[in-house]
Order: sequence, then C-alpha cells, then structure tokens
Amino acid sequence: MIIAQISDTHIALDTPDADRRLNDFERTIADINTLDPTPDVIFHTGDVVHNGRQDEYAEAVRILAKARAPVYVIPGNKDDRANLRAAFAPRGYLKPGSDFVAYAVEDYPVRLIAVDTLNANSNKGDFCPERARRLIAMTDAETTKPIAVFAHHPPFAVTVGPDRINFETEEIMARLGQALQHCGRVVAVFSGHVHRATEGRVGSIPAIVMPCIATTLRKGDYPASMKTRPIYYVHRFDPDGDFSTEARVV
Ligand SMILES: [Fe+2]
Repeated sequence: MIIAQISDTHIALDTPDADRRLNDFERTIADINTLDPTPDVIFHTGDVVHNGRQDEYAEAVRILAKARAPVYVIPGNKDDRANLRAAFAPRGYLKPGSDFVAYAVEDYPVRLIAVDTLNANSNKGDFCPERARRLIAMTDAETTKPIAVFAHHPPFAVTVGPDRINFETEEIMARLGQALQHCGRVVAVFSGHVHRATEGRVGSIPAIVMPCIATTLRKGDYPASMKTRPIYYVHRFDPDGDFSTEARVV
C-alpha cells in the first residue's frame, strides 16, 4: 500500500504568487503520475485553497482531475467546509452540505480515516466531543486492519514553531490524542498546516507532518536550487505494521 501525501496547496487567484501556487500543485500531480509503482491513493491533508472560494476549488478540482490515483481531501483552516464538499462531491466520498468532513476509506489493507480539525473562526484546530465520538465510532467499526489517520493540524506539540500547540487549547488536542489511541490500531497520523517537515508522537503512534506544496509559503532552510521545487511525501506500508516515509522533491 502506497500513499502519496500532498498538503497546503493554498490555491488563491488574486495574490502575486497565484500562478506559482497553481504551478506547484500541477507539477506535483504530474510528478506523482510518474511514480512506479503508482500510489494506491493521493491524500491531500488540507488548506487545498487559501480563501475557501468556489473559483479556487474549481482550479483545485481541475488539477486533481489529472491524477492517475484516486484522490481524497480533508479541510484545513483556510478551507470552507461547504465549498470543499460541493467541489469534491462528484468524487463520491463526500456529500454536499456543511457537516464535518469525516470518513473512512475501506478499499485497502490499511483503513484510511479522515479527521476534520477545521475551526471556522480561527487558524488553530478544533476537535469537539462530537468529532471525537465519530472518530471513535469509525475506528471501532472494523477490528482487524491497521488504520492511518489524516488530520490537517498536527496532534502533538510542534517544536519547530511558530506555534507549539496548533489547536485552540491543549485540552482540545488531548481529546484528539485520546480518540486516536482509543482502538489501539492507528499506526500513523499524517498532517500538514505548519508548512515545515517535522514529526512527533501521539502516545506510541508516529505522527508525521509534511511541508507545504506551495513553495512560496514553505518554511525552513532549503538551498536556493530547491526554492521552486515542491516537496511531497510517499508513505509505504510494510505488512509488518509500519509506514516508511520518503520525501520526494519535484
Ligand atoms: Fe493550515
């Protein structure tokens, strides 16, 4: 099982770097299409667009339509839940509406579970008791397969900043952490949001954070030759029960 993770494309149509963001996204999908073997899925961990606008989602949908592998998305803080749902509803795994974007993909040896950490009033993450209830219900719905969880905001204290805690409160982050550990079968959590590569743990669960696809928004020190080259992650699942993660430079 191979998952290509992309994140934080921040598509915007009226910023000076709008063309760069579109181009970074397009080149990333084109590069994923060249991978051999082809990934089983592409998972976008949020901030698909920058202002939550329908015309921005139309661009994202146009670009993702070129992907050879099935694509799944979750919202980040810059996304609009209803507009994201409407844009991706034709793909079949989301229905139109404004409900939380929480779903499970059951077609693979690893179950893929999407978590919605969007807080409509803040860039920081939220995870209310209702979302915790749904996550636990989804993880408990099948009792044999390992689970990979996707959440925009990292569910652990991030030491590379700018914010150590990327949720409204530590208690909210702890609620997500408890829900993730509830079933004992979650083997990895994949996130974005901080625009910088880092990793941590939720109990014993490895938590991986990838940098942003939008090269103009990427944090961290890279050589000048890499400034215009997006980075995405390829996660390979080993039947022994772990993911190994490789960064791919476009
Ligand atoms: Fe974000």
